[in-house]
Amino acid sequence: MAEREASESRKQARLAIYELANMISVPMSLNAIVRLNVADAIWQSGSNTPLSASEILARILPSGGDAENLQRILRLLTTYGVFAEHITVDDGGQRKYSLTEIGKTLVTDEDGLSYAPYVLQHHQDALMRAWPLVHEAVVDSTEEPFVKANGEAAYSYYVKDPEMNELMLKAMSGVSVPFMKAVLEGYDGFEGVERLVDVGGSGGDCLRMILGKHPHVREGINFDLPEVVAKAPVIPGVTHVGGDMFKSIPQGDAIFMKWILTTWTDEECKKIMENCYKALPEGGKLIACEPVVPEESDESHRTRALLEGDIFVMTIYRAKGKHRTEDQFRRLALSAGFTRFRSFHFDYFYTLLEFHK
Ligand SMILES: C[S@@+](CC[C@H](N)C(=O)[O-])C[C@H]1O[C@@H](n2cnc3c(N)ncnc32)[C@H](O)[C@@H]1O
Repeated sequence: MAEREASESRKQARLAIYELANMISVPMSLNAIVRLNVADAIWQSGSNTPLSASEILARILPSGGDAENLQRILRLLTTYGVFAEHITVDDGGQRKYSLTEIGKTLVTDEDGLSYAPYVLQHHQDALMRAWPLVHEAVVDSTEEPFVKANGEAAYSYYVKDPEMNELMLKAMSGVSVPFMKAVLEGYDGFEGVERLVDVGGSGGDCLRMILGKHPHVREGINFDLPEVVAKAPVIPGVTHVGGDMFKSIPQGDAIFMKWILTTWTDEECKKIMENCYKALPEGGKLIACEPVVPEESDESHRTRALLEGDIFVMTIYRAKGKHRTEDQFRRLALSAGFTRFRSFHFDYFYTLLEFHK
């Protein structure tokens, strides 16, 4: 046995299980970095000059803090590509940190947006309470871990708490704007559309960007829960409409949705898609941007990010909501009455799916 444990494969296995067992350090360190606003402190309007933990600390906590502990967090996240570490020989081997491309996603842009609110949104207390209950989704999938932990479904829980509601809106803007920029660079499917409905459009960022690029879309209807649209900003050309997509959806030449179907069960998706079908004219289309998982399981970042998101959905939103394959989406759309299906790949996380009536 001793000999076997000294073999290369056993050493690798022991290392891998330590890494997995301590993995929680990674997202919680990322959350700490966001809470401390480290990315903006390093970025400083684009200078991105490598700074020591003490120098960063002086910017984020002028009244003082523990530089050594900050450095421990920076080192760990360097191994995940969030920071670049620079060890200066002349400064006695001091470690300094700048932002990588990944780290830059946390920097607040000129519109006040970044991926930082998304990180915070995912690590709020109510969501964290659900995580120790993931196994419960296997034992009894009729109630989500989030509901078991908090007594209520996530979306209705968020809208009852003004702070959570606003953080959700900010998180959605932060992640959706860069994605929509990529879509608008390559996608021509909005041609000929005059009235476009965004189902679950949150603050209306996607519509604002689509209308900005395509002036022929004269009317945008941002459709979301009443409490959500009540907090949405005024956007020229966009009417905010509060409602419930399970009851009915406003009419449009085309319907857009991003990150909606994923959080619902197959039966619920079918209902949403049937309501979209009813709201579309003959020849109209539903344009859905959703995370789409590959058929094969592998160790790539893409597959991991998509499968991690799948467990997030199972834990927080719907125990039987899920990240689906293209084929699962195609079959759902057919069951709701759509006849033709196309997919476009402008992003590694979301796939743009067109369902034609
Ligand atoms: C994951 S978010 C996506 C937001 C936005 N489409 C984006 O990608 O930035 C899902 C959205 O669906 C909305 N939603 C949830 N239940 C809904 C319902 N029954 N009717 C309409 N919208 C709903 C939520 O309020 C939320 O804004």
